[in-house]
Amino acid sequence: MKNNVLVIGGAGYIGSHVVLALLKSGYGVTVFDNFSTGRRENLFPEAGLMEGDIRRYGDLTAAMKGGFHALVHLAAFKAVGESMLDPGKYAENNISGTVNILNAAVASGVHNVVFSSSAAVYGEPHYLPVDEDHPVNPENFYGFTKLEIERLLFWYDKLKGLRYAALRYFNASGYDPEGRIKGLEQNPQNLLPIIMEAAAGIREKLMIFGNDYATEDGTGVRDYIHVSDLADAHVRALAHIAAKDESLLLNLGSETGTSVLVMLETARRITGRPIPAEFTARRAGDPAKLVGTSARAEKVLGWKARHSGVESLVATTWRMYERLGRSD
Ligand code: UFG
Repeated sequence: MKNNVLVIGGAGYIGSHVVLALLKSGYGVTVFDNFSTGRRENLFPEAGLMEGDIRRYGDLTAAMKGGFHALVHLAAFKAVGESMLDPGKYAENNISGTVNILNAAVASGVHNVVFSSSAAVYGEPHYLPVDEDHPVNPENFYGFTKLEIERLLFWYDKLKGLRYAALRYFNASGYDPEGRIKGLEQNPQNLLPIIMEAAAGIREKLMIFGNDYATEDGTGVRDYIHVSDLADAHVRALAHIAAKDESLLLNLGSETGTSVLVMLETARRITGRPIPAEFTARRAGDPAKLVGTSARAEKVLGWKARHSGVESLVATTWRMYERLGRSD
């Protein structure tokens, strides 16, 4: 059906924000999720649900029977450290799972795919800001899985006429500014949620990985992008590939570099909590600085980050964490 979208991984952290944005734009949405990391609290009554696993081809063809105009694929394991210890798990879910999705899409006549890729495909940057023409050379297995999927998409476009948008997210952060997402990401591995756990008192302190980088304050600098901005880009990318019948490869970032210390100080100010922190050794594989340019997304989609200021990232995340660690 013309307006129906299957969101694979739609109960997850980013997926649920994408579902919200699609519903708001008038799409009919069905969520496909196995709830391994997705949360039932992230489901919306306006959206349908198909429980299933991308590792099972039959689950996907059954889900796609309804007839979809497009699918958004965000179902992936994403813990960088774990991907280096258990590559098989990442290959099976992220890569083989995507092969199943693409074959099911072709068999079911779904022509448009928006894919959740990552700036991890670039590896250590050779120049900044990183644009889409920067060489790809992932430094971890997680990033490798995202790159392999981009390559699969390229060939399914060429051979099967499947149009796709591969969206290379920089550091996804924040929560819906209107508080409509209820499920907190479980076992978060990223900087801002870790700072929030320390602020809420459910983690003793933040360990800062290195203070001797060649950056302004010696700590790592990243391009943090609000998930609601990411979600908006998905809706625009979907409309674009369907209307223009062409595929897209786009960076999505805020184009602003924020250091660990700036994030921490902003969090201390906004939460009013002391947030204990300690410097420790650098984490293996971390570049000093990773900032992207999203000029292509702006030009092609008319998209720009609107919620990605550091204050907004911290405030919308704190709203989710503030209620934790309280006895009431
Ligand atoms: N950091 C700390 N202490 C922590 C966690 C992180 O100091 O406990 C620092 C890191 O060293 C880095 C920054 O905070 O300088 C951000 O680290 P994250 O782990 O939050 O994010 P990464 O930049 O390592 O990676 C993230 C996602 C990847 C994605 C990448 C794209 O986890 O999946 O952004 O830019 F590919």
